Amino acid sequence: RKSVVRITTGSQALDDLLGGGIETLCITEAFGEFRSGKTQLAHTLCVSTQLPIHMHGGNGKVAYIDTEGTFRPERIVPIAERFGMDANAVLDNIIYARAYTYEHQYNLLLGLAAKMAEEPFRLLIVDSVIALFRVDFSGRGELAERQQKLAQMLSRLTKIAEEFNVAVYITNQVIADPGGGMFITDPKKPAGGHVLAHAATIRLMLRKGKGDQRVCKIFDAPNLPEGEAVFQVTSGGIMD
Ligand code: GTP
Ligand code: MG
Repeated sequence: RKSVVRITTGSQALDDLLGGGIETLCITEAFGEFRSGKTQLAHTLCVSTQLPIHMHGGNGKVAYIDTEGTFRPERIVPIAERFGMDANAVLDNIIYARAYTYEHQYNLLLGLAAKMAEEPFRLLIVDSVIALFRVDFSGRGELAERQQKLAQMLSRLTKIAEEFNVAVYITNQVIADPGGGMFITDPKKPAGGHVLAHAATIRLMLRKGKGDQRVCKIFDAPNLPEGEAVFQVTSGGIMD
C-alpha cells in the first residue's frame, strides 16, 4: 500500500488549509481567473516537490506539461534559492513538455507513465488541463465529444497518481466574463463543468487579493475545513 506524501505549497497558511500541502495519489485542481496564481503555484511546486521529506517536500522529480507556453525556467532560479537548493539541479529534475493539441497532451501522458516507471517522480503538472480542449472542440455540437475526451484525460491522470504515488496538479482558467466562454453555464463553475469536478479530488478556488496577495478557498470538500488562506506571489514563489 502506498502512503500519501504531502508537498508544501511554500505558504504555511495554504498548507494548513490543505492539511499539510498538496497530496500524492490524487488530483488537485486549481481554478480561478487570469493572474490568480495558478501558474505561480505550479512553479513553486516544481521546486518544493524536490525538497526532502523532512522539509515537507516529496524527494522526487517533476513532470510539467505546458499547454499555454507559460513555464519560465528562469522563474525556477529564485524559487530554488529561496528554498536553499541548487537551481541547476532543480531544473534538471523537471521534465518539461509543451503540448499543442489535446491528443498530443494525452500521448505525452502515456510517454510519461513509462518514464515514471523508471524514475522516482512525485509531481505531475498540467497547466492548463483544459485550454487545448477549448481550441480543439470549439464548436457547439462538439460538446459531448469534448466532455468524453476530457473524462478520458482525467481518468488517465488519476491512474498515474495512483500507480506512481504522484501528486497531480492541474489548472483550469475560469473566464470571469460570463459572455467570454460558450461552455460556461454557471459563472461560478469552472469551464470543465461536471467532468472536471468529478475526477479532481481537491479543488482550489483562487482569487486575487490586494497587490501580490492571493486568496485560496477549498471548493466543495466536506471533509476539509471551511475557510480561506491568504498567501503572496513573490519572486521566491508562493509564501505567506
Ligand atoms: P492565467 O494562466 O492567465 O489564467 O493566470 P494564472 O492564474 O496562471 O496566474 P499566474 O500564476 O501566472 O500569476 C501571475 C501573477 O503572478 C501576476 O500578477 C504576476 O505579476 C505575478 N508574478 C509572477 N512572477 C512574479 C514575481 O517574480 N514577483 C512577483 N511579486 N509577482 C510575480
Ligand atoms: Mg497560468
